[in-house]
This record gives sequence, C-alpha cells and structure tokens, in this order.
Amino acid sequence: MKLVIGIGLRGGTSYEELTALVRHALRDVTGDVDLIATRTGREQEPALQRLAQDLNADFRTFETHELAAQSPPTPSEKVQHHTGTPSVAEAAVLAAGAHLVVTKQQTPNATIAIGHLPAPGYDAAARATVHRVIAERRDVRRGFLDLSVDDRLLTRVLEAAHRAPSVGLSQPWDFLVIRDLATRRKVHELATVQRDAFAASLPDERRAAFDGLKIEAILDAPVNIAVTCDPGRGGRHVLGRHADPRTTWFSAAIAIQNLWLAARAEGLGVGWVSFFTPEEVAGVLGLPAHIELVGYLCVGHVDEFASAPELVRSGWAKRRPLTWAVHHETWGHRDISIHEEALQATPAHDISQASGQTVNVIIGGDATSLRNPEDLVVQLGAVKPPSDFGIVWRHARTNHEATEFGIELARDLALQGIAHLRVRVTDRTEQAEAFARGIATGASASGLTHSPA
Ligand SMILES: Cc1cc2nc3c(=O)[nH]c(=O)nc-3n(C[C@H](O)[C@H](O)[C@H](O)COP(=O)(O)O)c2cc1C
Repeated sequence: MKLVIGIGLRGGTSYEELTALVRHALRDVTGDVDLIATRTGREQEPALQRLAQDLNADFRTFETHELAAQSPPTPSEKVQHHTGTPSVAEAAVLAAGAHLVVTKQQTPNATIAIGHLPAPGYDAAARATVHRVIAERRDVRRGFLDLSVDDRLLTRVLEAAHRAPSVGLSQPWDFLVIRDLATRRKVHELATVQRDAFAASLPDERRAAFDGLKIEAILDAPVNIAVTCDPGRGGRHVLGRHADPRTTWFSAAIAIQNLWLAARAEGLGVGWVSFFTPEEVAGVLGLPAHIELVGYLCVGHVDEFASAPELVRSGWAKRRPLTWAVHHETWGHRDISIHEEALQATPAHDISQASGQTVNVIIGGDATSLRNPEDLVVQLGAVKPPSDFGIVWRHARTNHEATEFGIELARDLALQGIAHLRVRVTDRTEQAEAFARGIATGASASGLTHSPA
C-alpha cells in the first residue's frame, strides 16, 4: 500500500519534533510512504526535506486554493487565519488524490495526516499508446498485401486474445486458423450468397450505396480465424454464468476484441465478417455440434489503416455521440436530456444525411404491415413481438418517455443514413401520438425531413 503524509508546520520546526509525530502516526498503518505533501512555500523547510529524504518519498506542494477546495474532516479557524485555508495536512492528503486513514495529529509546531494512495495507472506515454491503439483499431477489408503472417507474430496476437477475461475463467473460446485457399473459397461462397440476399432486401437507394461497399476480405487476407465458443465449457458450476448464460458469448467476443487490438498494435489488419449463418460456416469448418461460431476474422498485413471506419467514410452510417450513450443512475438521465437537446436551435451533433433515403415509419401494425423495404413498424404494446428487424418495439412507461423514444428513433435512423421519414399512425392511443411527436422533433433536430404518409 502506498501512503501519503500531509504536513502543515511552522517555519523552523525541528526534524526531531516532526519525525516523532510521523513515527507515532504511522505505528498502526501498513504501507510505504510514497509522498510528502504540503502547501506551497514550505519547499525549503529543512525538516521536511530531510524527512522526504529519509523515507525516500517524493515531495509535492499544493497552492492555497487547491487545499481550500478540499473537504477535510477537521478544519480549523486558526489554520485558516494563518494560512488562508482551513486545513493543510488533511487537505494536502486529499489534494494528492488519497483516501484519508489517519486524521489530523498535532505537536505544538506541526500537524500531519496520512492517506492511502490508489494503485497507480501507467505513465502518460503508455496511457496514450493504449488509447491510441483503441482509437486506431479499424475493421479492414481493403488493402491486404500478398505477404504471409509470421507464426510468432500470429501467436503473440492469439496470446492476447487468450488472455481475455471470461465468465468464471471458463475460457470458452477456440481459434481455428485457416490458410487453405479451398476452405476460404467455400466460406467466401457463403458470404457472397448472404451479401446478395442482404442487397435484395434493401430499398433502391440503400442498395446502390451498399453495392459500393466491400464487406469481407476472405480471399484477400492470407489468414482467416474462426473464433468459436463452447457454451458448456467448465461444466455445470461456472462462476457467474448461472443467471446469465449470455456471458459465455460475451467472453468469446471480448477475446476477439483483444485479438483485434493486439493485431493493430502489431500492424496486422483484421476484418470481421458476419455475412453467413453460424451453422453454414460450422459445416465448412467441421465444427462439432456443441461448438458455435462467434466471429470470422480476415487477418493479414495491409497497406494502411484508415483514420475512420469505412462505413463512416462512405457515408453509410455515423458514429453516435458519447453523451447519448451515457445515463446516470437510472435510464434516461443523460447530461443533457434527449428532449432539451432536440429542441436546441443549433444541434450539438450534426447527423444530417444527404442520401435521399426514406423510411416509412408505421406506428402500430405488425409484421403484415411490412409491404416495402422502406417500411418500419413501431409497436408500443407491453408484449414483446416476435423478433423481426422490420419491427422496433418501444414500450414506454409514460407519454413523455414515448416522445423521447420517438426522438431517439429518428436520431438513430439519421445515424444509419436515412434522410426522410414518412410517418403513419395507425395506433390511435395517446402514446402513439406522443411517439409521433417525438419522431417529428427528432427528425427536425437531426436534419431529416418528415411528412405524413
Ligand atoms: C460483430 C461484428 C460483425 C461485423 N460484421 C461485419 C461484416 O460482415 N462485414 C463488414 O464489412 N464489417 C463488419 N463488421 C465491422 C463493422 O462494420 C465496423 O466495426 C464498424 O463499421 C466500425 O468500424 P471500425 O471497426 O473500423 O471502427 C463487424 C463488426 C462487428 C463488431
């Protein structure tokens, strides 16, 4: 445990007085003193300098206003009078970012307090590298080079994947490394069929945009890796899995993220392909019945890493602002409410699209209302409808929430490249009206046009 000693003292306090006080205060505390903290202006005090040297501790001073900004448990008017802040020792411990474990102890000329410092993070350069690799990781589908991937390099990347956290340490993943061209051709064939099926399901403008996108690099990348999951790994009593079996798949997905980041750091491109049903790929790769495909990755050296996601650069979709994703304490309490933000004269986030794509939002109805690829049904009832991507289910608890859900849906569609909404309300409830108002507000705020269908 690392400790910080906060010290307030009169000029000229003797070393003996100070060390006796420190020894006394430290007798019930375990840990090493890492830092001596005091107020600016006391840097040259011989007793402080010698103490820091004896303890091999760093020395740090805080300005009066920094000390005054703390909330020490034992403030003093006398100290306030002499120093301009109600506490030096305790406040210095708090200002150093420590948790106070010994409150103010005094001798006639000195006051000390002791705190525990939290475990340190990495130094600034290492932290910057971690954030950089996260920001610069890309899903890569273009620019793979005709270069083989060194076995040791691949092993380093797989080691990173294999170090992932997993529920109950069940480590449910396996990594199937595929280099064989014939196998990759078969998988590529599956992806092509699904690509065509997806294209056929799209509205005309969206299909035209999709035609320009590359969605896999199965044959371009020299190495493919199928990451699988064994949902039964670890037997019956895997810690943490009993109430939520999905945690097994989460664990395998995190292994993929570890792989992706390590690969980026090593200069290897990775592209995730999900244009097939897991069963189809399982058949080609000879997976046993109990093993499930989680992700299929194309891996290899590339000519460059793009600075932004390909789907952003092509205008297919936009990134969602962090402030929309962060709620405080209970759902919907964001730093700025959806409503307030949508009513701002100038949108904080420009997500408008110039695509010309339309969605017909049908509030009410069911799967039989889905007649055109542009149609999207919104169901507001309490019963979750059967899974269908043509139906969004938004059961609001209040009319206000229904309006917020409407705003959110309009914004989400704008993020997915939609430019115009045609809205039809077939459900004549107050909630449906409130939702429709939200759609109108959200559409205007996101630069979408909207009209009644
Ligand atoms: C589970 C999953 C499946 C994905 N499937 C595909 C895919 O089939 N084809 C594709 O081109 N990209 C696929 N991607 C990549 C995403 O499009 C990409 O991560 C996203 O656009 C953000 O870009 P970035 O990864 O470069 O930041 C997939 C990503 C994930 C996480």
